[in-house]
Amino acid sequence: MTTTVAPLSGTFDIGGDLRVNRLGFGAMRITGPGVWGEPRDHKESIAVLRRAVELGINLIDTADSYGPHVSERLIAEALYPYPSGLLIATKAGFQRSGPDLWTEDGRPDHLRSACEGSLERLKLKRIDLFQLHRIDRKVPMKDQIGALLELQREGKIKHIGLSEVTVKQIKDVQRLTPVATVQNRYNLVDRRSEDVLRYCTENGIGFIPWYPLATGNLAREGSPLAKAAAKLDATPAQVALAWLLKKSPGMLPIPGTSSVRHLEENAAAAKLELDNSTMRELEE
Ligand SMILES: NC(=O)c1ccc[n+]([C@@H]2O[C@H](COP(=O)([O-])OP(=O)(O)OC[C@H]3O[C@@H](n4cnc5c(N)ncnc54)[C@H](OP(=O)(O)O)[C@@H]3O)[C@@H](O)[C@H]2O)c1
Repeated sequence: MTTTVAPLSGTFDIGGDLRVNRLGFGAMRITGPGVWGEPRDHKESIAVLRRAVELGINLIDTADSYGPHVSERLIAEALYPYPSGLLIATKAGFQRSGPDLWTEDGRPDHLRSACEGSLERLKLKRIDLFQLHRIDRKVPMKDQIGALLELQREGKIKHIGLSEVTVKQIKDVQRLTPVATVQNRYNLVDRRSEDVLRYCTENGIGFIPWYPLATGNLAREGSPLAKAAAKLDATPAQVALAWLLKKSPGMLPIPGTSSVRHLEENAAAAKLELDNSTMRELEE
């Protein structure tokens, strides 16, 4: 297979100035079960990250809470010193107490120490895209964004992104700061964030759909995409990703996997172009 396939997905300028290939990689699945602890196969997780870069992927999404800390540590172990042009986007805003347990924490002190921990683990001087994992309802929004703005003034982060937000919340945040990206759950069978996607597309905000494969359900045997995939001589996962890429020029899918084989399959979606009638059929 072509080695550097990801550039075929096209490019997007995050925050207007950091160019990435649109098909990225989500590094949540390289940790242990329940996004907790070490991965079952450390060697494979390292191989996935290195292969992602070989495939031309230069947007890697992670978070301090994946592991916690494990995903960021593995990224540095596999890829540091980083190739030029690699954008590692991380997030803050959750505390972890066990497998599958997530507690929002948007207190400014927490966001600051999470950012400083991420900088250290990732061996970075600056985080190019720092995403607020959730807007914590227990903390005034302006205090959470204020903490990020302070980190930005100190040069610790470049662009600010949001996750799981409504159009109204994006507009509220935009009164305080430009928003470079929004990361909401979105895939062919869950399009509840359609209005957010539309707003992002119209306003030059990168849209990073999480669960792009519906946690793998769109990729597995029996996928609702099996028929379309057979017609296109592709796999269901590739059709799910090609559908996303075609949906908006600002769409930046980050499929997650712990396997090199799945990574290669997913990356090859970059060269699959769906026509308008296939798009319509898939959306019916
Ligand atoms: N902002 C947020 O709140 C939020 C929430 C969740 C996730 N995320 C981010 O979004 C990224 C993507 O989400 P995700 O990883 O949870 O879901 P996903 O990409 O929809 O699906 C990942 C799952 O699908 C399987 N898979 C991947 N490629 C496959 C293939 N070609 N064939 C068969 N199975 C395949 C993986 O298993 P294998 O490991 O066996 O391949 C894994 O279990 C995450 O990695 C993370 O960076 C963000």
